[in-house]
Amino acid sequence: MASDVRADIVVVGGINTDFLVQGSRLPGPGEHAEGHLFLEGLGGKGANGAVGAARLGARVALVGRVGMDARGRALLEQLEGEGVDTGAVVRDPGATTGVSLEMVDEEGGTQSLGAPGANRRLTRDDVLRAEERISLARVLLVQLEVPLEAVSAAVHIARAAGLRVVLDPAPARELSEDLLEAVHVIRPNADEARVLTGVDVVDRTSARRAAENLLRRGVGAAVVAAPGGSLVLSSEGELWLPDRRVELADTTGAGDAFSAALAVAFSEGKTLAEAARFAHEASALATMRLGAFGGLPTRDQVESRLARLGPVALSPDGARM
Ligand code: RIB
Repeated sequence: MASDVRADIVVVGGINTDFLVQGSRLPGPGEHAEGHLFLEGLGGKGANGAVGAARLGARVALVGRVGMDARGRALLEQLEGEGVDTGAVVRDPGATTGVSLEMVDEEGGTQSLGAPGANRRLTRDDVLRAEERISLARVLLVQLEVPLEAVSAAVHIARAAGLRVVLDPAPARELSEDLLEAVHVIRPNADEARVLTGVDVVDRTSARRAAENLLRRGVGAAVVAAPGGSLVLSSEGELWLPDRRVELADTTGAGDAFSAALAVAFSEGKTLAEAARFAHEASALATMRLGAFGGLPTRDQVESRLARLGPVALSPDGARM
């Protein structure tokens, strides 16, 4: 690999086409509801993370799988147009490109149904072929839309090469202690935290309990998204980032924007507290536009928001990091 394509961040994860329909309300089971807006665009937590990090100024490489279909080709072109290195994305003749149907109401409520297709066929060998790309980077960003054997291979290469590892454990599933021990920062939402720890995350106190559980099991730091805010916990202390008030359009991709921004901040040597604040604003911005891809903010947008709003108001007993 030529040195000019060396990445700061390697993302291993899912690549989808998102078909999004917005209506005034979501349909109930067995019901048809009529929407008023349709969007088709790039999605998948891996692709969103890669584009999110590239828009924030990082050099990014993506490892994943798409089909040999027209959608797969179009997604690769879109990724490349965003500056993402797709040299380690496999084109699979045996599966269709992943797809996700997203339904959004006018209050930002969502439902989705996906068909992972080629994403589910990413192998350990695909990841091993990207070993040089991973080893030369600073941060590995992974989620759980691709098989665990692929995630695990990437995490172990990254640890051996001294990278920081950011895990967005979505969609929710249980994980081995071996994998958790190799993770520097995990960023579960309430649902994912419950699956991983058994703790019902309903507020800051329960988010802390979930984060403590993850730290006891070897994770370096946890950023748990709870109702009302995000709880950041490491051995150095705790930080509570209250949710920003924004004009909410759609939360699809907000978690991807958060993880991407964390990865970018770590690749630039920022501290956990700095990285979490940066990611918090990136994620808030991502909820202000419909669709995952359209909402991923640029560096300028995040910087100007940080400058305009100043530091988040920390609750008194939360300003310890
Ligand atoms: O996190 C949002 C993403 O989840 C969407 O883009 C969709 O494709 C699903 O993977």
